[in-house]
Amino acid sequence: MSYIAINSQRENGKISKYIYGQFSEHLGHGIYDGLWVGPESDIPNTNGIRNDVVNALKAIKVPVLRWPGGCFADTYHWTDGIGPTNTRKRIVNTSWGSVVENNHFGTHEYFELLKQLGADAYINGNLGSGTVQEMSEWVEYMTFDGTSPMADLRATNGHQEPWKVKFFGIGNESWGGGGNMRPEYYADLYRQYQTFINSYDADTPIYKIASGPNVDDYHWMDVLMKNAAPYMDGISLHHYALASAWEDKRPALNFPENEWFSLIKSAQKMDELITKHSTIMDKYDPQKRIGLIVDEWGSWLRAEENTNPAFLYQQNTIRDAMIAAITLHIFQKHADRVQMANIAQMVNVLQAMLLTDGTKLVKTPTYYVFKMFTKHQDAIAMNTFDELSDTTSASVSKNAEGGYFISLCNFGLSASDDVTVDVDTVIKSVNGSMLRGSRMDEHNDFEHPNEVKLVDFSAVSFRSHQLKAQIPPMSVVTLQVNTN
Ligand code: AHR
Repeated sequence: MSYIAINSQRENGKISKYIYGQFSEHLGHGIYDGLWVGPESDIPNTNGIRNDVVNALKAIKVPVLRWPGGCFADTYHWTDGIGPTNTRKRIVNTSWGSVVENNHFGTHEYFELLKQLGADAYINGNLGSGTVQEMSEWVEYMTFDGTSPMADLRATNGHQEPWKVKFFGIGNESWGGGGNMRPEYYADLYRQYQTFINSYDADTPIYKIASGPNVDDYHWMDVLMKNAAPYMDGISLHHYALASAWEDKRPALNFPENEWFSLIKSAQKMDELITKHSTIMDKYDPQKRIGLIVDEWGSWLRAEENTNPAFLYQQNTIRDAMIAAITLHIFQKHADRVQMANIAQMVNVLQAMLLTDGTKLVKTPTYYVFKMFTKHQDAIAMNTFDELSDTTSASVSKNAEGGYFISLCNFGLSASDDVTVDVDTVIKSVNGSMLRGSRMDEHNDFEHPNEVKLVDFSAVSFRSHQLKAQIPPMSVVTLQVNTN
């Protein structure tokens, strides 16, 4: 049994829509075949970008897309990806499988994708192997409005108007693949590089993000905050849910019961990580000006058989839906510090929204959670009084019209949870949706694309100020509570 009390006065700040952000890297089929097929492809596309993928993603209201990596970002030289596609450099993707990267998807194609999605830009710059000048000129190329060497080059390449860059990351995982740096050294480099990231567009000052800690590296956070806090708007945090040790990736399908729970427990660690990192940030930034940007999160499981292991292609089950719901609830609880999050990764990589194979497309259970939760975007988080069962996770937001949006996840395997919600306003109507699994690894694939799908939720009743709902095991439920 679970109990939730909503008091209309107990607001907890706005849930940034950017918490629902996405990440796509030049990795496996994340970009090529997943998003980009090129204008000549038989797969229906607009300016080279798959129509089916864009249409599906529009329904989850992608607010921001981080690109081009990840690890790839610290090897990426942006000038390789501009100009006529047939003259672009073919390079080796040393981060992911040493395959040929033809650079057909570059800066112009990224902004075309953002335009089609209606999403904001989050560019991750190359600090690991790039120069200050290169990073500075990329920003000039993208955002300078007027006559300058880079703005002129952009116009020559077919785009007169500058684009808007809302977020800019300076290095990725600089403690590891991004340069194996010590925090003191990175803090100094960060200070130097960010000096030359100019906000040319006064209406869109660039939000600068420092490369933050790996999971629970609290020392990294402390050194960065101590030495560079005044120069940053955000600092990143990466944490992946693992069912076992990092070196022992577990299967995405056909897993034992203990791995259902070990993966969920690993995802739940996000709460502790955010709490502890925020406590360190509070020492140097008590006003909470600086955002904790969880720009890589999600489940990391064993790559599917007969796929290139470096492509990180994994199936996505109802268990991933639990991971998504639980983690998004944690972000909403910490809405005062978590200003953006980006699930890894949007298409065909790790905990993806969509899987593609040639002309085929599958919407994953994770996709449906993002679709169900769109009403939380930019809503007001409610500080509820909760007594939740051990296998229930929940979050409540207030809509602009005054109603409440409740999301619940029962990650138990066998028992329903009877949930009572008290509201200090009279309830007029309730509409519900549900995503439910009938077995632990239920999923959608190219032969069976609709095994896990959204259905109306009717196990709910209400009277006056109270509603009661029965949340089945292995399910995510959303309730729109209307009070007008
Ligand atoms: O998302 C896959 C990889 O995980 C990213 O490239 C890297 O930043 C992280 O280690």
